[in-house]
Amino acid sequence: MFIKKFNKTKCVNGCELFNDNSNYLYWENRNVTNDEIEITDFLNNKYNNQNISILHIGIGNSYVATKLKKFINIDGISISMNEIILAKSLKIENYKSYFFNKLENNVFSNKIFSKYDVIIDVNIKSFCCCEYSFKKLFSDYNMMLNRNGIIVTGKRGMNWSRIIKPVIRFSLKKFFYKRLKEFDGPKSNILSLFECNELAKEHSLKLNNIDKTNIVTFSKT
Ligand SMILES: C[S@@+](CC[C@H](N)C(=O)[O-])C[C@H]1O[C@@H](n2cnc3c(N)ncnc32)[C@H](O)[C@@H]1O
Repeated sequence: MFIKKFNKTKCVNGCELFNDNSNYLYWENRNVTNDEIEITDFLNNKYNNQNISILHIGIGNSYVATKLKKFINIDGISISMNEIILAKSLKIENYKSYFFNKLENNVFSNKIFSKYDVIIDVNIKSFCCCEYSFKKLFSDYNMMLNRNGIIVTGKRGMNWSRIIKPVIRFSLKKFFYKRLKEFDGPKSNILSLFECNELAKEHSLKLNNIDKTNIVTFSKT
């Protein structure tokens, strides 16, 4: 059953977006994606023992924070309050998690955000409501990037398009509970390397598809 009444916000183009911070289940108990595992290994090698700061968009089950906790500061965001509750329960020093919809107009002008060496978004375009919001999102990421910083995404995530809708489900264990359910999204959310190249040029970033991996980075020189 779909939920009709939930908190909403709007993107830069006026599209309505889910923004309800009551306890919706989503990715907190699901397996981390392969893209995120590869990205985490890559970052562990690249920044071994350096004190960098990361913005993680779509924290899922907080895999990134648990694997990189030794030497970094991480701010993470998600649209699932249950993911945030899990993240906070891990009590990882230097890991802060917040409920935000990344597509909300002006969301990144909030003072909690600063400048980052790395911005991770495995599903950089997957959940976008329209082209305007994606363009705005990407320029926000660029704006928050330190010199020599990188935006990191993954090719599998780039090939994935979804729409998330709030639903009520029933199970004998949990009775009625709220969760975010994925549906197929528009083809326009599939991001090609060609499009990435155009984005990189437009924002004076350098595009790199790391050798023999699915990792795609945009770096600021
Ligand atoms: C498919 S899950 C992937 C989780 C994790 N990044 C991984 O790769 O295992 C998508 C993640 O993106 C988050 N997400 C989806 N749309 C979002 C939005 N508009 N704003 C913020 N987070 C969003 C979800 O809450 C979830 O954490």
